[in-house]
Amino acid sequence: TTAAISTIREHVNAWRRKGETVAFVPTMGNLHQGHITLVNEAKKRADHVVVSIFVNPMQFSANEDLDGYPRTLEQDSDKLMAAGTEILFTPTPEIIYPNGLAQQTFVEVPDIGDQLCGASRPGHFRGVATIVTKLFNIVQPDIALFGRKDFQQLMIIKTMVSDLSMPIEVIGVDTIREASGLAMSSRNGYLTAEEKHSAAALKQALDTIVEAIKHGESTEVAIVTAKKQLTNAGFTPDYLEVRNAKTLRQATATDTDLVVIAAAYLGKARLIDNVSFSRN
Ligand code: PAJ
Repeated sequence: TTAAISTIREHVNAWRRKGETVAFVPTMGNLHQGHITLVNEAKKRADHVVVSIFVNPMQFSANEDLDGYPRTLEQDSDKLMAAGTEILFTPTPEIIYPNGLAQQTFVEVPDIGDQLCGASRPGHFRGVATIVTKLFNIVQPDIALFGRKDFQQLMIIKTMVSDLSMPIEVIGVDTIREASGLAMSSRNGYLTAEEKHSAAALKQALDTIVEAIKHGESTEVAIVTAKKQLTNAGFTPDYLEVRNAKTLRQATATDTDLVVIAAAYLGKARLIDNVSFSRN
């Protein structure tokens, strides 16, 4: 059930005293199979699972979809209970930010956070790093699970945990996709039926680039081809890049662990996706 901060701390402390472990899955709700997979993975790895649902105003810019972000608490709660979540934390903005956003201390991971999605969404990753820090301090889990779908976010959280010596193990979970290849996302709900059909082109564009690079073709040419695929499907690409999967820096000719990472607009939605791979 939905719990207050003090209740969560009491439960987690009691479990800890018994030597039992706690896994945490932070979300913004409107849960789909991607989120539920994180919860299932959490159950496998720890004795207890805590989930939060909080549409974090700090990670949305003024022109973004904070107000329109889908809020489906009742269905979410049913899904989480069915998946074996013991504690659900669904705070209001007033509980999390009692002094408003302007006075809030924040956490920033500038090196990774200022590029790609961070360049297009200034302040976004500061909002993510700050809320995740606050949630970690409220829940105090042993492990926390994040989706690889948000590749840059996962890397920022891992870096933050390491840089700030947080005693938490961060675990990445593979992207769950629709049969079409489209990565599951709460923002897919903004798409019309026709757009959702076209949206499969995003993953296809990433795969095009992976295949080209594996065949030794030029990355630049592959990106141009993939951008055309995206545009033909109705997308407006934001970025589409090949990066070093370990550092997120520009990939050099000798890097072997790579990630093709993209953001693109389709109708009202801004969709992101990535595929990581190694080349010999
Ligand atoms: P949200 O978009 O709700 O995602 C919550 C978690 O689910 C994230 O770790 C995300 O990577 C993961 N996830 C989303 N779609 C997925 C998919 N198709 N397959 C696998 N995992 C998927 O990400 C956030 O919320 C917020 O930024 C948050 C971390 C909660 C901070 O506010």
